[in-house]
Amino acid sequence: MKISIIYAQHAPTGAIGYAGQEAMPWHIPEDFKYFKDKTMGKPMVMGYNTFKSLPRLLPGRFHYVLTRSEELHAKAMENGVQFVSSIQQAADLAKKNGHEELMVIGGAEVIKAALPLANIVYRSKVEGECFFDEERSLVYAPQPPALESTHGFEIVSSEKSPLYILNKTSKKPACHSAIHGLTFEVYLKKPVSDTAAV
Ligand SMILES: NC(=O)c1ccc[n+]([C@@H]2O[C@H](COP(=O)([O-])OP(=O)(O)OC[C@H]3O[C@@H](n4cnc5c(N)ncnc54)[C@H](OP(=O)(O)O)[C@@H]3O)[C@@H](O)[C@H]2O)c1
Repeated sequence: MKISIIYAQHAPTGAIGYAGQEAMPWHIPEDFKYFKDKTMGKPMVMGYNTFKSLPRLLPGRFHYVLTRSEELHAKAMENGVQFVSSIQQAADLAKKNGHEELMVIGGAEVIKAALPLANIVYRSKVEGECFFDEERSLVYAPQPPALESTHGFEIVSSEKSPLYILNKTSKKPACHSAIHGLTFEVYLKKPVSDTAAV
């Protein structure tokens, strides 16, 4: 079973969102499309906060939701959602259901827990200035130096999306007018022998 992590990250700060059950701080149509392309038809695992922050279930994808709540664990699977207690449990269930890849879609707590298990990281690098809401706390995911040195990944592709301005499309005040770059990066876990040699 292949485990892939996918997240969009504001490169200057490393932020990926606000702490808790909060919606994404930006609205980037190109990134939503990339996310959809990478996840469609595949099972996803996400933290309970991320699950609660979704406006609705994402069609065409099974939702495994990580929680430590025993009450939720006891709930039966329904409408394409199942509560699980570990990423490994989600991977085992996905494999049993005939899938070859599990997509870890966040948030920050879950990304950190998944890094030792993951084979691939899809990172959308968001560049520019974000006017984050100072009243709320941000959550952060590892940046490339840590992905490489601490977690043993290496970058295998980097594709820049055409430049765009978000003023017209973004309804979110948090990160609106100054985003000027989006790059889709792919990292692969280095074989253990390579990592040991470093
Ligand atoms: N930029 C991106 O690509 C991206 C992607 C996804 C989410 N986000 C953003 O990230 C933010 C949420 O991130 P977050 O770090 O606060 O929360 P999160 O990772 O989505 O969820 C955390 C919750 O998941 C459960 N959990 C996490 N690790 C677990 C483990 N190892 N075992 C069992 N349960 C576990 C716990 O739920 P219980 O409390 O129920 O036990 C925990 O409170 C939101 O703002 C969201 O919009 C951004």
